[in-house]
Amino acid sequence: MSDVPQVWHYGLVARWWAEFNTDGPEIAYFQALIERYGQPALDVACGTGRLLIPYLRAGIDIDGCDISGDMLALCSEKARGEGLQARLYQQPMHELDLPRTYRTIVVCGGFALGGSRRQDQAALQRFFDHLEPGGALLLDNYLPYKDADEWRYWVKEERAQLPEAWPPGRRRRRRAANGDEIELEGRLAAFDPLEQRATREIRASLWRDGQRVRQEEYSLLERFYFRNELLDMLDRAGFRHVRVFGDYTEEEASADSGILVYIARK
Ligand SMILES: C[S@@+](CC[C@H](N)C(=O)[O-])C[C@H]1O[C@@H](n2cnc3c(N)ncnc32)[C@H](O)[C@@H]1O
Repeated sequence: MSDVPQVWHYGLVARWWAEFNTDGPEIAYFQALIERYGQPALDVACGTGRLLIPYLRAGIDIDGCDISGDMLALCSEKARGEGLQARLYQQPMHELDLPRTYRTIVVCGGFALGGSRRQDQAALQRFFDHLEPGGALLLDNYLPYKDADEWRYWVKEERAQLPEAWPPGRRRRRRAANGDEIELEGRLAAFDPLEQRATREIRASLWRDGQRVRQEEYSLLERFYFRNELLDMLDRAGFRHVRVFGDYTEEEASADSGILVYIARK
């Protein structure tokens, strides 16, 4: 496997993010935590700025980084459009190397994508190294058993059905601001429970005047971690005080949580 993390956030997929992925409960949730733990802040895997742009608008001193130049270009364009100055860096998180350190580092929806387990551990180490003493890492992560439909692929007999067909039910088409229509179709191509890794595929199409004028295909690797594994990895990276919350709330994680938010202090 190549050392370059394999993600799908390019081309039309990046455009989809910029056009349509602009809200969500994570924005206010992580903003309140940044205000609590302090600035300067860093948004790792900032994408097209779903969090970063509102935070810049709110006057937060925050930088962004991402592996995808396409996502960053759209983020920068959005910031400029609002007269905001965004300091953005194109780097994979496991090689994070920035000129300053931070009070808070937020990673929303970006951890454990594309690369290897070794790179995920290296990324946690880089986050630790980029925090000021007492600083906080805010990291969200989907639990492997969150989605009942996919959880079944941990069982060998169910995996015989993979790759999934391209299901019409998962096709989404939306009209962009300039009138173009962008369509995304996704499927689970493979699942390896030993590696705790899903391989997803996406087809993105551009439609104009009822005609498909372009189609792009990408794949994405996603690794899954259980809570105790990630706690061990954070410990190995040097974090000592770690709390785990459930589903973007102030409640400690429970057996019913689907998304965990780790708050790890340096
Ligand atoms: C699901 S999007 C989330 C974007 C943004 N954090 C948000 O919540 O809107 C995931 C982002 O992670 C980035 N990414 C994935 N793997 C990465 C890596 N190894 N290093 C840096 N960025 C990565 C992708 O390019 C993409 O922009």
